[in-house]
Amino acid sequence: MYQPNHHDFQTLIEAMPICTILHDAQSKDILWANTAALSALGFTLEELIPLKAPDMTRDAPKYKRSIGLRWLERAARSGQRTIEWCYRSKAGVEILSEAVATLVHLDGRDVLMVQFRDISREDKVKRDLIHAEEARRVSEQQLEYLARYNAMGEMAVAIAHELSQPLAATRNFIEGALIRLGDTHSADQGVHWGLQSAVRQVEHASTIIKSVRDYVVKLEQSAERVDLNELLHETQYFISLRAEPSQVRLEITPSAEPLMVHCERVLIGQVILNLAFNGIEEMSGLPVERRVLRLRACRDDGVARLSVEDCGRGIQAVAQEKIFDGFFSSKVGGNGIGLALCKNIIGRHHGDIWAQNLEPCGAVFSFSLPLVGV
Ligand SMILES: Nc1ncnc2c1ncn2[C@@H]1O[C@H](COP(=O)(O)OP(=O)(O)OP(=O)(O)O)[C@@H](O)[C@H]1O
Ligand SMILES: [Mg+2]
Repeated sequence: MYQPNHHDFQTLIEAMPICTILHDAQSKDILWANTAALSALGFTLEELIPLKAPDMTRDAPKYKRSIGLRWLERAARSGQRTIEWCYRSKAGVEILSEAVATLVHLDGRDVLMVQFRDISREDKVKRDLIHAEEARRVSEQQLEYLARYNAMGEMAVAIAHELSQPLAATRNFIEGALIRLGDTHSADQGVHWGLQSAVRQVEHASTIIKSVRDYVVKLEQSAERVDLNELLHETQYFISLRAEPSQVRLEITPSAEPLMVHCERVLIGQVILNLAFNGIEEMSGLPVERRVLRLRACRDDGVARLSVEDCGRGIQAVAQEKIFDGFFSSKVGGNGIGLALCKNIIGRHHGDIWAQNLEPCGAVFSFSLPLVGV
């Protein structure tokens, strides 16, 4: 039976691909290293022996000399200890390693045999896996959002379809009632006004519904050339219906020149309404004299810009990133859909939408649309 002799053991250790360094268990000084360790680190044995741990480790706190010494100390006490350690070669290359220190008794003294192997490739694979997992999670979230968004679109079409009939009937009934009232001399002017307003609301609802259907089917079908100032003017009535009960004063500033854009007018109108309604809601807690909502249209570097400015608390820091992404609302009973819809509508019109906080208070929400030739 073959019995390796002393010389054979040395040959075996020298031939082993695993890097091995021997440290004195007491002083932790390096005593010896095998060929694999010397070639991995690029030092000769004479160069390596006087080196101390900090010369071989990178500056990360995780690889501090004191931590390395503690690891060796524990190994000396318990017999064996493993650590993730970073060696540095003579050329300055960092070698992320898994290192095992084992206490052995050699030549009448306690020695720590450290065996280490390069795990930088495994570490990269691990990091790549973590990144891939993170990317998968984000894309899953986006997919879920898109699915919900898509479902919303389908629901909108279904609702648009279902509502158009009763709305048309309501309008007919109200108009019929108006005609009858017109015949009666005693008709109350207030009743007349109320019914006419109701007809306008129903007409507006019908136009929104029609445009939602048109929009979902194909944007181009219903897009037209519109002056943004005109749109601002059209929405003013609906904004005032909300502003008045909330005691919000409106300041509307159209531009001096026409701002011709190519758009689906009712949808861009909805964007203006959503922004204005948010501003009005935002100021509900302010003293009455400070409740002012400013809407401005202007030409700005080749685009038409519309901004809606309020004097509220401004956008909260936690909300900054997510307000346009949908399903974020800081309001009791808010859906968090208004701004996401605005972003979608403006995006499909090749425009931009953004928000800024104002000093000392308030926020301004703006959108821009490409100008088209008059
Ligand atoms: N003018 C504003 N000032 C401060 N924060 C605002 C303003 N407008 C919007 N926000 C913030 O953005 C969030 C999202 O607004 P968004 O219009 O999308 O949803 P919502 O108003 O909460 O609900 P809804 O879908 O019914 O409109 C709001 O809940 C609020 O936190
Ligand atoms: Mg809103």
